[in-house]
Amino acid sequence: MPRNIIDVTDLTVEEIDQLISTAEDIIANPAKYQDACAHKQLATLFFEPSTRTRLSFESAMLALGGGVLGFSEAASSSTSKGETVGDTVHTVSCYADIIAMRHPKEGAPYAAAQFSEVPIINAGDGGHNHPTQTLTDLLTIHREKGRLDGFTIGFCGDLKFGRTVHSLVNALSRYENVKFVLISPAELKLPRYVKEEALKKRGIPYRQTESLEDVMPDLDILYMTRVQRERFFNEEDYLRLKDSYILTPEKLETARQDLSILHPLPRVNEISVAVDRDPRAAYWKQVKNGKFIRMALILKLLDIHV
Ligand code: CP
Repeated sequence: MPRNIIDVTDLTVEEIDQLISTAEDIIANPAKYQDACAHKQLATLFFEPSTRTRLSFESAMLALGGGVLGFSEAASSSTSKGETVGDTVHTVSCYADIIAMRHPKEGAPYAAAQFSEVPIINAGDGGHNHPTQTLTDLLTIHREKGRLDGFTIGFCGDLKFGRTVHSLVNALSRYENVKFVLISPAELKLPRYVKEEALKKRGIPYRQTESLEDVMPDLDILYMTRVQRERFFNEEDYLRLKDSYILTPEKLETARQDLSILHPLPRVNEISVAVDRDPRAAYWKQVKNGKFIRMALILKLLDIHV
């Protein structure tokens, strides 16, 4: 059976730490890795739009000397003719050595993996999980703070549908002494199942609030998220909630000098462009880190040692 990464907990904490260490080595010594995946093929099967995840996966494989194939919308695959996702993945696994797959339906990558002869990586499934964004976030936090434990992180925005939030809460709940502050409108609170599985079951305390201003001075890390239009059932609710939080330089006046501001991107309106010039903004570094950690993950799943 191939090794799949459907959920971030498919990796042990030790394996995540090892991936971060490999990514750091890739950043320091890129030439060492440039032929590591020669003659290997990565397929990117994206049934839902993406800029960063798809292109960073492809850039990662190219930087490892491998090749890429795939599609960026369901309409250009034979699923538009009625083929099942299972048959599509079975087919692609005959051509590629590893598959990264995004799908709007929760659980689709898990179901697809039952039909694959090669490793499947969940590149985002609906409002559920996004494990490789979490690896990107963890590498970024490690680079900014020098550790993955002993800090207070605030998650702000759409915590209900935000798959990056669900995966990162799950991952960080396995590290020591991480304090969670959950900042959202009442309608967009973190789902109960994430709180139960990641926080309550492990006895980890957390705080819920609707006010970013109230908690800003307490945060070491602020993880902003977009209110996701595509997950709402009606436009009226989206319009009412979309601008619940807009981070500006003025709102950061009470924040710590060593705060790190993360955002998985894309952003719409929730971080003003003026914040990009603040040295505490780490989200463009986060974008770059996505390529290096995905290089490390591809090497691990293909069992290639450099
Ligand atoms: N962070 C993220 O998943 O971005 P994309 O939707 O552009 O891939």
